[in-house]
Order: sequence, then C-alpha cells, then structure tokens
Amino acid sequence: MLLQPAILKKSMPFGRFMIFNLKSGINLSDLKKILKTIKFDQHIIVGFGKKLMNKLGIEVTDYRQFPQLDVSVDIPATHGDLFVFMRDNEPGKVAIKSLPIKALLKPFFETQLQVDGFKYLGQADGYGHDLTGYEDGTENPLGGDAVKAVVREDGSTFVQVQQWQHDLTKFNGFSQQQKDHTIGRSLATNKELEDAPASSHVNRSDQGTFDIEADILRRSLPWANEHGEGLVFMSFCENLDRFEVQMCRMAGLNDGISDALFTFSKVLNSAYFYCPPVNTEFALKID
Ligand code: HEM
Repeated sequence: MLLQPAILKKSMPFGRFMIFNLKSGINLSDLKKILKTIKFDQHIIVGFGKKLMNKLGIEVTDYRQFPQLDVSVDIPATHGDLFVFMRDNEPGKVAIKSLPIKALLKPFFETQLQVDGFKYLGQADGYGHDLTGYEDGTENPLGGDAVKAVVREDGSTFVQVQQWQHDLTKFNGFSQQQKDHTIGRSLATNKELEDAPASSHVNRSDQGTFDIEADILRRSLPWANEHGEGLVFMSFCENLDRFEVQMCRMAGLNDGISDALFTFSKVLNSAYFYCPPVNTEFALKID
C-alpha cells in the first residue's frame, strides 16, 4: 500500500480545506462504494475522523481525536468525520475539482467547514509566507527526513488541521523587534534569532528540542474571506505525539509560557484525521 501521492509532493499555491460530518441513517455499503471511486492524484488528500473510522471498521490503535487541553489559551477541539484537501495551481481549478467530490459525498455528509487557502509571497518554487509576512515552512524536513517524519509502515499517515484567525491590525502595530520576537526569526533575513524570548513561536515549536522525534511536515496556507484572515495550519506526521508535544508547549502546558502567536491570533477549530493508504490503482482499499 502507498502513501496518498499528494502528501509528499511539492505544495501548490491554492487549496481548499473541507471538513464533513456523517449524516445519520446512511447506507454503509453505498458509502464504501463511493469512497472507493475517489482517484488519488497530486490534487487530493483525504483523512478519516473517528466516527467514520468506526463506521468503516478501521482500527488504528494510535489514532485519537484532538485533545481538549486544559490551558489558559483557547484551543477548541472541534473534530470532524472526513477531511478533504483539494489543491491546484489556480483557484478556479480548485473550485471545479471540488465539485464532483462534493456531489459524491453529499448524500452521506454535511459540510462542517470549507476554507479556501492561497499562497502569499515567496518564489514560485519556494515556501509561501504567513500573512504576517514571515516565511512558513523553512524548517520542514526534506527528502528522506520528510518520509521518515510522515510515512507509516502501511503507507498511512495522520493529518492535523487547525484554522487560526489573526488580528493583523494588532500585529502590524507591533514594533519590528516585537514582530521578530513573536515569530523568533528576523523578517528581513529569515534567520532564527539568538535572543528570541522563550515565548517566540520558533522556541515553542523547535523540532530539535523535544524528548521525542518531533519533525512534522507543514503544508499550511493563508486564508482571507468575509470572516477575517489568518492561516489554515496543516501538518502530516506518522505519530500524533510529534505534533502534540509542540501544540502542548505552544499552549504553555508544562511551563505556563504560551506561544506569542496567541497575542495576535486565535484558534478557531482543530482536528486530527487518519489518512489511509491507497493501492497501486491509487484508490482506497475498503473491505
Ligand atoms: C498562527 C499559526 C501559525 C503561524 C502563523 C506559524 C508560523 C510559523 C513560522 C513563520 C515559522 C518559522 C519558519 C519555519 O520554519 O517555517 C514556523 C515554524 C514552525 N512552526 Fe509554526 N505557525 C503556526 C502554527 C503552528 C502550529 C499549530 C504548529 C504545531 C503545533 C507549528 C509548528 C511549527 C514548527 C515545527 C516550526 C519549525 C520550528 C523549528 O524546528 O525551527 N506552527 N511557524
């Protein structure tokens, strides 16, 4: 079995994050039939939530739902039954490619969330930036390191999806030093700061500073619509602990120091999904 092909492939500049919930009273064999018709190419990533996995009889012992953290910052664990990420080089193509999949899912699922993301700044071939202006993805693992961080023995992985809403008026009012100290990098050079405070985002999330292997592959995209603007954080890892140690430190769980990101941004929703492997025809194998 193989990893869904879009997961390790280079980012694309436009992506639609969709979370669905199962309707009640659906026919299980019809649901299995339609899921098996999804063709996995470089444009689509699919993740299953707890209820759907239960329904399909898929048991993954180390899958769990996003935890409700008991911390001073608000991190809503909102979950979801199915995650679909559709991506392409143009927003119109994302919209058009989403149509057949949404039609396919409609008899079985209600839409919980749909957010369109886009790449901001950056070179055509490089990482994009968050709407704060800082490059996002610099410390992503590459090549074999990315494979090691993401791919489980059977070709599956886990995806973490978390929508953040920024107060950019507030952030833009910070001094340049305060902005750099919030992220932990220099905006001008993208170099990590030696003297960044413990609350800086890079100090909170530094992958090399945990007791466990904590590399994750981040594929976040900014969003902006009538509700505001921010980042849809999305990452992949073979073990949810990799993400969760970072999230807990960002939330100040052990030392009471919460990530400086929370001074201008808030979490709207959070969920973990299991990305099942695909067969050599790039389809799901569901019994
Ligand atoms: C508002 C939401 C977020 C924003 C704007 C943001 C932005 C950034 C930026 C600008 C960097 C520095 C460049 C880079 O290495 O990519 C970074 C690094 C990083 N972020 Fe985030 N991030 C956000 C949320 C998160 C979350 C929720 C996690 C995981 C729980 C996370 C994990 C990481 C990791 C692992 C690094 C690299 C740290 C290192 O090893 O140096 N980020 N982020």
